[in-house]
Amino acid sequence: MAKLWGGRFNKESSKLLEQFNASLPFDYKLWHYDILGSKTHAKMLNKIGILMDEEYQKIIEGLECIAKKIKAGNFVFDIADEDIHMAIEKALIEEIGEVGKKLHTARSRNDQVALDFRMYVLDSNRQIQELIKKLMHTLLEIASKHTEDIMPGMTHLQHAQPINFGFHLVAWCANLKRDLERLSDSYKRNNYLPLGSGAMAGTPYKNDRVMMAKELGFIAPTLNAMDSVSDRDFALDLLYDLSVLMMHISRMAEELVLWSSYEFRFIRLSDDYATGSSIMPQKKNPDVPELLRGKSGRVFGNLMGLLVVMKGLPFAYNKDTQEDKEGVFDSVETLKISLEILNAMLENMEVCQENMLKMAQIGHLSATDLADFLVRECGIAFREAHHITGRVVAYAEQKGVDISLLDEEEILSIDSRIKSGVKEVLCLHASMNARDSLGGTATTQTREQILQLQQFLMDK
Ligand code: ARG
Repeated sequence: MAKLWGGRFNKESSKLLEQFNASLPFDYKLWHYDILGSKTHAKMLNKIGILMDEEYQKIIEGLECIAKKIKAGNFVFDIADEDIHMAIEKALIEEIGEVGKKLHTARSRNDQVALDFRMYVLDSNRQIQELIKKLMHTLLEIASKHTEDIMPGMTHLQHAQPINFGFHLVAWCANLKRDLERLSDSYKRNNYLPLGSGAMAGTPYKNDRVMMAKELGFIAPTLNAMDSVSDRDFALDLLYDLSVLMMHISRMAEELVLWSSYEFRFIRLSDDYATGSSIMPQKKNPDVPELLRGKSGRVFGNLMGLLVVMKGLPFAYNKDTQEDKEGVFDSVETLKISLEILNAMLENMEVCQENMLKMAQIGHLSATDLADFLVRECGIAFREAHHITGRVVAYAEQKGVDISLLDEEEILSIDSRIKSGVKEVLCLHASMNARDSLGGTATTQTREQILQLQQFLMDK
C-alpha cells in the first residue's frame, strides 16, 4: 500500500529517506498506548456523531484484533510505515476496510504522539515509584535489624562519629523518599490530555476532550493546542527525576563497592550477585554496584540530550521531537532493572557488624564525648577539657589502642580531675546513643525515623 500521506507525491520515498525518517524501529513500544488512545478517540467520534454505532464497533474490533496480533508477535512492522501510528492505522484499514479510514478524523499524528508518549511516561513514572517503594521496604527491614550495630560514621571519608548501621540505611531511604515525592509531583503536573489538539490549532469538530480525559484517567484536557503538540516537559520531568534517582543509586552503589573491599569488609555480597575475574581466580568483584554507578552516565546523558533537542524549536510540532523517545525508553529501562537488581542484591547481602565495630574502634571516635564529660561532670572549662582529652588520646595512641578500649583506672591515672564513670561515656554505644537529638543516630531516634518512613510508605 502507498503512504497514508502520499496523495500529493509523484515519486516514492527513497529507501534511505525511509530508514532515516522512521521512528517505528523504536516507537513500536508505544503500540499499547496508541491502540488505547485510538479506541478512546473512536468512542468520542461516535459520541459526537462522526462515527455511526456500527462503524465504531468495527473500528474497536479491528483495533483489538491488531492488539492481539502484536501481543502474539504476529504483526509485521514495516519501516515503510514510518511510525507506530501509521503502522496501526494502515493495519486497521487492511483489517476492516474503508471504515478504518474514518478513524483519523479530527486528529493529527501530532496530538496522537503527544498522547501516546505521555501515557508511556506516566505509566513508567508509576512503575518506578512501585520499585522505589519495594527498595525502601527492603532497606527499612535491614535497618530495623541493625539499629544497635555500631559503624564508623564518616566525613571526608575519615572516621568521624559512631553511628549505627540502621541509621546509615535510613539516610539512603531519606533520599529515596524525596525521589518518590518528586515523581508523584511530576505525575500530577503532567497528568493532562493533549489529544484533541489536532495538528497545532485545535480541530473544526466538536472533539469532546473532557470525556476523553476522563476515559483515559487524566485530570483534564491540556490548556492550549499549540503548547500540547510541542510540549515535552513531561518527558524532561521524568528524565530529571530519574537522573536524581540514579545519582542516589550511584552513591549507594559507591558505598557498597567500598564496603565490600578488604579495606572495609562491612558487607559480603552474595555469590549470585557478584562476579569473578577471568585471570585472578581468588577474586570476587562487585560488578553490580559498579555498573549501577556507571549507568548514571547514560541516564544523565539522556536528560542533556532531550534538553538540547528541545532548546531551539519554534512552536509547534517539529520532527526533531521524534528524537525524544529513545533516551526516555533507555532511562526508564535502565532505572527499572537497576532498582530491581539493587533490591535483590541488598536482600541477599551479608552484614558484617563485627567488622564495622572493629573499624569504629579506630580513630578515637568518642573523644568528643570525653571532653563533654569533663565539662559536664567534672566542672572543667572546655578548652582545658580539650587538652586533657588530648592527653588521654596520646596515651591510647602510645599503647596502640582506641580510647574506648582503655580501662577506667588507666584513664583516672592520667589526670586527677577526671571523675569515675568516665569509662561509660567512652564506650561507642554510649557515644552513639548520646546523639538523641531529633533526627540523630541514637537507637531510639533511628527507630523513630524507621517508623516514620514505614508510615509514609503505608500512606502512599
Ligand atoms: N513519529 C513522529 C514522532 O515520533 C510522530 C509525529 C509525526 N508527525 C508529523 N507530522 N510528522 O514524533
